[in-house]
Amino acid sequence: MRTIAVINLKGGVAKTITSNSFAYILAEQGNRVLLVDNDKQGDASRGLNCRTQDGEGIDRIMTARHPEDWMGKLIRHTAYYNLDVLPANMRLLMANQEVMFDQTRPQQFRIKNALACVAEQYDFCIIDNAPDINISTINALTACDDVLIPVEIDDNTTEGLPELVNQIGYTKEELNKDLKNYWIFITKYDKNNLAQEQGADLIQAAGYPMLSTRIRYSRKVSECTYARKPIPLYSPRSLAAKDYKRLVKEYLVAAGIMMDKWTEGREA
Ligand SMILES: Nc1ncnc2c1ncn2[C@@H]1O[C@H](COP(=O)(O)OP(=O)(O)OP(=O)(O)O)[C@@H](O)[C@H]1O
Ligand SMILES: [Mg+2]
Repeated sequence: MRTIAVINLKGGVAKTITSNSFAYILAEQGNRVLLVDNDKQGDASRGLNCRTQDGEGIDRIMTARHPEDWMGKLIRHTAYYNLDVLPANMRLLMANQEVMFDQTRPQQFRIKNALACVAEQYDFCIIDNAPDINISTINALTACDDVLIPVEIDDNTTEGLPELVNQIGYTKEELNKDLKNYWIFITKYDKNNLAQEQGADLIQAAGYPMLSTRIRYSRKVSECTYARKPIPLYSPRSLAAKDYKRLVKEYLVAAGIMMDKWTEGREA
């Protein structure tokens, strides 16, 4: 199982839209995919119509001594073939406080240990994260092979990036030797906005590893969140859906993952 964490310390940059799109596209391509909602806002679960107000999910995984007893009970099938979700809601807030007070067991490996229990059942795991570095995000970094960092170009695009990149470096050194790659890519891109073009050049000049696919702004994206469907399903012809398909392909090549076959579908 290849695990991808989608992280940025900034809010609203399209982490959740990216996570759900990646998960849906990889499943559509015939992979068995687990989407882990690692954000108490529960937006990734909601986006796949799998959020519950008070049911257990990732919160239980953060506190359980024996995740192997829980993963099967907590993971839910979505309406889509090959795509399952480990949901989240506000219970994660309390669970994380409990983790911080629990000095008896390591705090950073809870998600990694839980994912190890289902590694044979899935080809990919996508972890959607909150706009923060907290014990949940550190668990995600400790559990993943790759990190994807969506950025929206505005007047403080790079805010938080040095801190996140430092955290990735520290995690790789101290906690997760399997962490292989991280890449930045641009979301909500508007090519007619000159300031965005200049912002993109600035990020490139800063020397961060980047994927070249830019996810274009599309009004269909906000509609899809209301419909609780991933954008590649809700509006496959939208600019954003086409770009996400391109991005997944670019990721697979950059990560050196060979797919037996890639189906373009009629919308590509
Ligand atoms: N390509 C796009 N075109 C237009 N709107 C977009 C696009 N991508 C994301 N959005 C919109 O941006 C908003 C934030 O997206 P999303 O919830 O994925 O961000 P996030 O980084 O997960 O936010 P948070 O930090 O709160 O978790 C949503 O309203 C979404 O509809
Ligand atoms: Mg989100």
